[in-house]
Amino acid sequence: MALHGPKTQKNIFGLILSSYFHGDTTPYSVVRDDGHVEYPNDPTEYLSVEDWYLKNAKGKVLDVGCGSGSYLLAFQKKGLSAYGIDIDEQCIQLCKERGLQSLWKENILKPTRTKKLLFDTIVLAGNNLGIAGSLENIEKMLRHFHDITTEQGTVIGEGLNFTKTTSPVHKKYADMQRKKGRFAGVMTMRLDYKDMVGEWFDWIHTPEKELKAIAKKTGWKVESTQKKDGVHYRFILKKVP
Ligand SMILES: C[S@@+](CC[C@H](N)C(=O)[O-])C[C@H]1O[C@@H](n2cnc3c(N)ncnc32)[C@H](O)[C@@H]1O
Repeated sequence: MALHGPKTQKNIFGLILSSYFHGDTTPYSVVRDDGHVEYPNDPTEYLSVEDWYLKNAKGKVLDVGCGSGSYLLAFQKKGLSAYGIDIDEQCIQLCKERGLQSLWKENILKPTRTKKLLFDTIVLAGNNLGIAGSLENIEKMLRHFHDITTEQGTVIGEGLNFTKTTSPVHKKYADMQRKKGRFAGVMTMRLDYKDMVGEWFDWIHTPEKELKAIAKKTGWKVESTQKKDGVHYRFILKKVP
């Protein structure tokens, strides 16, 4: 496993985004605990937005894991009242530098301020269903979303169906997780950038089948799913009154 440097920090994603925003082009890599390393095709992708989210976000919006703030800026431009949270202080700082104000640091798995608010649309852009890290936490997150949404509440986001992968390396990793008694879509990984590595964290890739089952349990209905590419899919959840 070729890691660049010795400096370990809790989160380095915000720092990476901030560097890209200021013109850096050094690629970061995602290192999995089996030693597999991936470099994102376009390391600056989290500075851009997908039109699908702009089309489907309505009313008062909460962007969960807002990252660089590009979606928040686009929602505001569309005239929506948009709020953002992120676990990484440096993401929050970058968003503020970009002129955003309605956002704060919050871990969606340990909610604080969002508990007192009400939203029409919750956004999980950039494959952010994965931030839950486990099936239990997806359930917890969806229950929280149920509590903080209006009657017409909607969750829009993206997930990854790991069972559709054709990669032998990823299939082997999923088998390894099964053998350990873990859900096969969970990955333990960290980011590596310049002389820094982030802490290990769990990310979950969730097929539609599991998402549907959890949605049903937590007061949501999968209104639609849309295939994005071989493994990624977009989803719209509607609150069941
Ligand atoms: C893959 S990035 C997506 C960023 C953004 N949504 C986008 O599409 O450009 C994941 C983001 O979620 C944040 N995040 C991870 N875990 C979180 C949690 N438990 N609560 C809130 N934010 C979280 C990360 O710091 C990061 O900014």
